[in-house]
Amino acid sequence: MTKRVFSGVQPTGNIHIGNYLGALKQFVQLQDDNDCIYCIVDLHAITVPKDPKILRENILDVAALYLAVGLDPEKSIIFVQSDVSGHAELAWILMCNAYTGELSRMTQFKDKSRNSESAPTGLFAYPVLMAADILLYDSDVVPVGNDQKQHIELTRDLAIRVNNKYGDDTFVVPEGRFLKEGARIMALDDPTAKMSKSAENPLSRISLLDDDAKIKKAIMKSTTDSDGLIRFDLENKPGVSNLLTIYSVFSGTPIADLEKQYEGIGYGTFKNDLVEVTSGALAPIRKRFEEIRLSGELIDTLKDGAERANEAAEIVMRRVRNKFGLGVR
Ligand code: AMP
Ligand code: TRP
Repeated sequence: MTKRVFSGVQPTGNIHIGNYLGALKQFVQLQDDNDCIYCIVDLHAITVPKDPKILRENILDVAALYLAVGLDPEKSIIFVQSDVSGHAELAWILMCNAYTGELSRMTQFKDKSRNSESAPTGLFAYPVLMAADILLYDSDVVPVGNDQKQHIELTRDLAIRVNNKYGDDTFVVPEGRFLKEGARIMALDDPTAKMSKSAENPLSRISLLDDDAKIKKAIMKSTTDSDGLIRFDLENKPGVSNLLTIYSVFSGTPIADLEKQYEGIGYGTFKNDLVEVTSGALAPIRKRFEEIRLSGELIDTLKDGAERANEAAEIVMRRVRNKFGLGVR
């Protein structure tokens, strides 16, 4: 049976190899055998104030990247969140069923709000909007990186809670899909922190659109350790383990084979080879991105996607309004 797959990426610039290896790669793998919907979640992006012009550019950048990594609008629905009003509507309904206690425990909220009384309410409600995104399409499977595990659990809790109150067939209870390798790529300058779009040091990440010189600099300067052994050991050698993971997923060579191949060889050679592997993987994405971004077809693709997404969303929204006794239309 084909499954409904849903996922989203925030249009915040600096889409990096963590986003690619943890999430986007899965999106592409899933699109042949499933009914996939991929969203650019602009409403999530404004939890932190954004310059409207830059936000608009970032939305088109993510759309072009979706296509550049291999998503095909003939196979998958690709659209922008705020073009389908059901997301915000369902988020409100779910907020009325989410507990302030459970939202206070979300680690992403705790990290970003830092106990400040002036943290925006949207930052607090962010995971509920994410749950709405997923439940709005009767999604079965949600491919994401490890950092989203807690949000997926909350989505499942909310779906089950509403089903218990309003009827079992209100929502489909979704499952997260996490990769064994690549689900958590770490920062290159600090392998104890995850690679992020917003970290201050640009050498902490490799963005998908970085040129060869930047890729080289970030990898050559990456933090390792002093024992000189190329061995996968997350606890004692987080830096080398992270590089091995990146090498393995870009090259398709199992980590155990890489460990053998680099036995007795120093970090310099290993890093040089990783530069080549990474540059080789990203160059075609960069080239396709430039072509697609300039082609002028992007807006039409997104409009068409929004239309199809809206149709799918309305089916669920009609059911949900009906279950809750909302509206009279
Ligand atoms: P975001 O940039 O927060 O919109 O994330 C988009 C997708 O990339 C989500 O599925 C994240 O879980 C995933 N992701 C973000 N950072 C990483 C990382 N360092 N390693 C693996 N996956 C990640
Ligand atoms: N919160 C996700 C992130 O920061 C992005 C996101 C929003 C998402 N809505 C979603 C991911 C729905 C999967 C499904 O990465």
